[in-house]
Parts: sequence; structure tokens; C-alpha cells
Amino acid sequence: MGHIFASFIIVLVLTSLCMCARADRVPAQENIPGDSHAQGFSYIAASYVKYLEAAGARVVPIRINRTYEEYVKIFNSINGLLLPGGDVDLQKSEFSRVSKIFYDLAIKANDALDYFPIWGTCQGFQQLTVLTSGKNLLTLTDTKAVALPLAFVPAAQNSRLFKNFPKDLLQSLSEENITSNFHSWSLSVQNYSRNAKLKRFYKVLSTNTDGRREFISTMEAYRYPFYAVQWHPEKSPFEWIDKPGMTHTPSAIKASFYTAIFFVSEAMKNQHQFPNISEEEKALIYNFAPVYKGLGSIFVQNYYFD
Ligand SMILES: *[C@@H]1O[C@H](CO)[C@@H](O)[C@H](O)[C@H]1NC(C)=O
Ligand SMILES: *[C@@H]1O[C@H](CO)[C@@H](O)[C@H](O)[C@H]1NC(C)=O
Ligand SMILES: *[C@@H]1O[C@H](CO)[C@@H](O)[C@H](O)[C@H]1NC(C)=O
Ligand SMILES: *[C@@H]1O[C@H](CO)[C@@H](O)[C@H](O)[C@H]1NC(C)=O
Repeated sequence: MGHIFASFIIVLVLTSLCMCARADRVPAQENIPGDSHAQGFSYIAASYVKYLEAAGARVVPIRINRTYEEYVKIFNSINGLLLPGGDVDLQKSEFSRVSKIFYDLAIKANDALDYFPIWGTCQGFQQLTVLTSGKNLLTLTDTKAVALPLAFVPAAQNSRLFKNFPKDLLQSLSEENITSNFHSWSLSVQNYSRNAKLKRFYKVLSTNTDGRREFISTMEAYRYPFYAVQWHPEKSPFEWIDKPGMTHTPSAIKASFYTAIFFVSEAMKNQHQFPNISEEEKALIYNFAPVYKGLGSIFVQNYYFD
């Protein structure tokens, strides 16, 4: 056990488009992937790194624009994948290409009893729906900067994700407005129900509504250790922009921590490792320093990569 824990590594995939142009220090960051003028930038919001670290993981950034062979090597060295939030094209971006490579590798690995979990947050949730269905089935909702209580479906009680959450926390999640929503697009319950691939693959655990459309806010795959939240558990403890939808109450922080500890404990079931310590050292996030972007930025700190 000690050995597995010692070499335990989680990973993030990068995106190269920042959803928060306002406070950007680096103008080229506003470029979108595929834009011929793009400067080859990518970033990770530091909140995702802290979120995983707080639950006992170490983080390896996965950089976009690498070869398939390089991604296979990374896949075989890490224990799980977190697809973060952002604002890239879910079918044409580098982020989507890299996500698909890891998703396909994870399906194959899990089929071969090599347990490999994936967690998708916000855009990561949306990317998973595109990867599973092969289509973009999202619809616009009025859900930018709003905190909501989760409307749990009865199946949530026995879900892998929620079944070990303390009762008082589940009650807070269902009664208090503590899940931060910062998305323009959502998977409606209607489109989910009409798509056989999605319906077969994912079990809905909670929904929400913008007053017009009911959408899926939490789900987990039936047969794979894949989890998706449309809300942002990493924001409550680690992001500080003063906006509606940001919540820092004890129950919000607790919810954040329980989702992280759940996902990291899933990753601890995986036994991939780097070929040796020097490869591991080179890959870790500690080789990079986060940049403070200011309290007015949607991400208080970002890591930047070539
Ligand atoms: C990725 O590579 C493509 C060309 O293959 C290039 O157009 C694009 O700017 C690169 N993006 C990044 C973020 O490096
Ligand atoms: C269903 O998906 C389509 C895209 O295929 C989208 O245009 C439409 O708005 C979605 N409808 C609902 C109700 O989510
Ligand atoms: C909490 O969320 C509900 C939607 O479920 C909404 O009706 C209510 O206005 C919200 N309360 C606050 C204080 O934002
Ligand atoms: C570590 O592994 C890499 C890749 O397999 C190899 O190139 C390198 O020489 C190894 N380094 C040590 C110190 O064993």
C-alpha cells in the first residue's frame, strides 16, 4: 500500500483558452486553439491543483500538442485524469483531441481490469458527454455565476460518488445554495434521455434548472469509474472572485473536500507508475510556478505552459 500511495499521481489536461480575459497578464492567452495566430499557450487554473493536493494527490500537468505516443507514456504513468473547466471547442480543440486520447485509453484500460478513473468538472463534464455520445448535445442555459442546491435523484443515495458522504453534508448539498455554476451550456435532461449512448453510459445523480430547462448537474458512469459535475467543487476553497455563485461556507468547503477525497481514493486503486524517479520528478507540477492573476480574476492563480 505504501508503495502505491508513494507513487500516486493524478493528472490534469490543459486547455489553451482562458475564460477570463479581463485580468489576463498575457494577452496571447486570449487566442483560441486552432487560430493560426495562436501563440501556443495553455494553462491550468491552480485551484484544480490545490483541490487534488488537498485530498492527497500529486499532480502532473498534461500539455496539449504532444504526440499520441507521448500521451500513451503519460497514461501508463498516472493514476487518474481530471478534465477541468474552461471554454474551448469540445470537438475541434487540442483539449478535446487530448481528452479523447485519454478517454479511449481509459475505456480500454478499464475493460482490461486496469482501473483508471476520470473526473470531469464543468467543461470536463461537457467534454465527457461529447466523448461518450460522439455529438455535442448541449443547450444554452442561464447558469453563469449562480450557486444552486443539488436536486438529487433517489439513485444518488446508492451512487459510488455520494454513498459515503456524511448525511449532514448531503442535506446541505440538497438544501443550501452551495454548488457554484459558471457555465453557459448544459446537458438537458431531455437530450440526455433521448440519446441512447448517454443514457446507457451515465447514471444521473442530480439535476438543476435555470427556471426554463432542467439539466444534469452530477452523474457517474454505470460501468466505468467516470464522474462528472457541471458545478465547480474546486472554487469554494480556492477561488476568490467577488461574484454571485461563489460560496465559501463551511458546508461548501466540506462538499469540495469530499468530492476530491472521493476521486483521489478512486485513483489510489490504479497502479500505474513512472518508469523511474527521475521521469516522475520531471513530470510533476512542482516544476512550474503559478502566476497570481489578482482577486478580480476568475482564477486567482494559473499555471502557464508552452
Ligand atoms: C498546436 O499545434 C498546432 C499545429 O499543429 C498549432 O496550430 C497550434 O497553435 C498549437 N497550439 C498550441 C497551444 O501549442
Ligand atoms: C439538444 O441538442 C441539440 C444539438 O444536437 C441542441 O441544438 C438542442 O438545443 C438540445 N435541446 C435541448 C432541449 O437540450
Ligand atoms: C437558491 O437556489 C434556488 C434554486 O434552486 C433559488 O430559487 C433561490 O433563489 C436561491 N437562493 C439564493 C439565496 O440564491
Ligand atoms: C528513466 O526512464 C527513462 C525512460 O524509460 C530512461 O530514458 C532513463 O534513462 C531512465 N533513467 C534512469 C535514471 O534510470
